[in-house]
Amino acid sequence: MKIVQKSSLLRNDLSAFRRKGGLVGFVPTMGALHEGHLSLVRRAKVENDRVVVSIFVNPLQFGPKEDLKKYPRDLKKDAKLLSGLCDFLFIPQKDRMYPADFCSNVEVKALSDIHCGLSRKGHFAGVATIVAKLFNIVSPDNAYFGQKDAQQAVIIKKMVDDLNFPIKVHVLPTVRESDGLAMSSRNIYLSDKERREAVVLYQALKSAERMVAGKERDTEKIRMVLVDFIKRVPSARIDYVDVVDAKSLLPVKTINGTALLLLAVYIGKTRLIDNTILKIRQSA
Ligand code: PAJ
Repeated sequence: MKIVQKSSLLRNDLSAFRRKGGLVGFVPTMGALHEGHLSLVRRAKVENDRVVVSIFVNPLQFGPKEDLKKYPRDLKKDAKLLSGLCDFLFIPQKDRMYPADFCSNVEVKALSDIHCGLSRKGHFAGVATIVAKLFNIVSPDNAYFGQKDAQQAVIIKKMVDDLNFPIKVHVLPTVRESDGLAMSSRNIYLSDKERREAVVLYQALKSAERMVAGKERDTEKIRMVLVDFIKRVPSARIDYVDVVDAKSLLPVKTINGTALLLLAVYIGKTRLIDNTILKIRQSA
């Protein structure tokens, strides 16, 4: 694995290789890597000839009151986890990505001001802008994202379509701890008690899936049951519980076919998100 800081060097290495017709896979991350990230890298490795992983804690996607400063960083540990799994570890420098006169912005409008975008103003413009920059630097054939960040994945797919990036976006399943909690770099902020209580998100998703399997189609009824269930956990404070169309992210009243259940819940001071696809089985 080659560690590269300069985009021009990465471009050079990749273009020489691409001329030979090889496929390039790309996994953008903010580091503090766990099995969730590594599952994306492993898939990229199977489907491509060269794999690039980027680690960049992107200031543009953090609000003024968010955890940019204390966001977990451990490049040494991350590099060790990635060695043997990818070909290039790209660690761009902040000043090169965002020089003082940087003033461009990519916004995927209708999808960005809802759900997580409501409590995290500007977050998704920050995500879309950095991902567009990274896509232009790496020019991958395939890019890999996690279903864990469902709204982010939908936004990136829309950006790729709208702006004609010649890139195939793959969205892979959420990797979970043994009790069901979705792996997240932010889980380390949880106290022991909060960590035990954080499983409520997964339990809520499962209970919604059971309701749908039991022929419940009314999303407001599902929502109310989940709100009630989550509220019983002392450290939990709901940001939102929404059942939406998986592409437009707009609320749906009745489940026909499939719908996306999105959760954002504060456990103590830590905001966690999770989601599941609610699917009506043919026989149901
Ligand atoms: P980060 O939170 O580091 O996540 C990098 C990628 O890993 C994202 O696509 C995310 O959805 C995926 N991921 C995180 N936890 C996962 C899990 N438990 N299972 C499966 N995949 C998981 O998301 C970002 O960084 C940034 O917003 C980024 C896209 C890099 C732009 O800065």
